[in-house]
Amino acid sequence: MGDSFPVWMDCDTGTDDAVALLALHALECTEIIGISTVSGNSTLDDSFRNTRGLKRLIGADYPVYRGAAKPLMMREKVHATEVHGKNGLGDVELEQPESPEASDIPAWDALYEAAVKLEGNLRLITTAPLTNIATAFMKYPKLPSMLHTILIMGGATQEGNCTPCAEFNIYADPEAAQIVLKAGAPIVLCPLDATEKVMLTAEDMDELAACGNEAGRVIRDVLQKPLEFHKKLHDPGVQMHDSCPVLYLAYPELFDTEEAGVVVETKGGITLGKTVTDLYSDKQFDFKNALVCLDVDEKEFIKRLKELIKSIK
Ligand code: RIB
Ligand code: CA
Repeated sequence: MGDSFPVWMDCDTGTDDAVALLALHALECTEIIGISTVSGNSTLDDSFRNTRGLKRLIGADYPVYRGAAKPLMMREKVHATEVHGKNGLGDVELEQPESPEASDIPAWDALYEAAVKLEGNLRLITTAPLTNIATAFMKYPKLPSMLHTILIMGGATQEGNCTPCAEFNIYADPEAAQIVLKAGAPIVLCPLDATEKVMLTAEDMDELAACGNEAGRVIRDVLQKPLEFHKKLHDPGVQMHDSCPVLYLAYPELFDTEEAGVVVETKGGITLGKTVTDLYSDKQFDFKNALVCLDVDEKEFIKRLKELIKSIK
């Protein structure tokens, strides 16, 4: 591909991860080098199987790797099957590719090998708990400095969606999130402040289902369970959290951002997994470790997200 840049995606597919992966696949400016999977919305096995199902759906050939089945520390595993369905993909079972993955090395080794080959050009998108990335950073201490940028869906400067304080991806493995945020790699953080504002409505889903490709139909189908969940909360649609780091890569101008110091509460009980920033305090941290997306042009975001999905052959 022309002047496209290489990207790796770490996900817990996941209904909104699925939309994000399909949008990434559709982007002209990126070349997917690999996809790694982790326990999160559902189990590691579900994330891996769902991601491979999407790979077959779009006829892609990038490798899919298995990562961590549980958080770094001895914490209780958390899932979000009440939102994403029992299998993590709205209880839609996608046909699997005929052949197994060419390599069964773990996600963290595969990510490191890709970063070495790409000599500082690799962009890493994470739409899941950060267990795989933290494991990679602990095993390969030079890896953070070998990545161009890490674009993270996670955190919240205000209220959470998993507890009153914490967003799911951070809460599911707070120690991993802290390791990644402190590792020194250039980070773009997409917290709930921005990601909760971009939603696909039932009408948007019907529009995608009628656009003439299988991807649109599958998106409508996998989003029915989360749509039911959000309707009970009187939300107008399903939040496209994970598409935010993807669209930031191609269209950063859609986002309002600010540099901030961001840390994770890993000791608290009530506050466990809270991302604490110095954005709204005169007490500043002595570091700025993330560019934080605080707002987004919702209308333009959804317009371009739908255009990307419709463009899939
Ligand atoms: O809080 C939203 C995040 O948690 C998204 O990545 C969603 O897929 C879930 O993993
Ligand atoms: Ca996710």
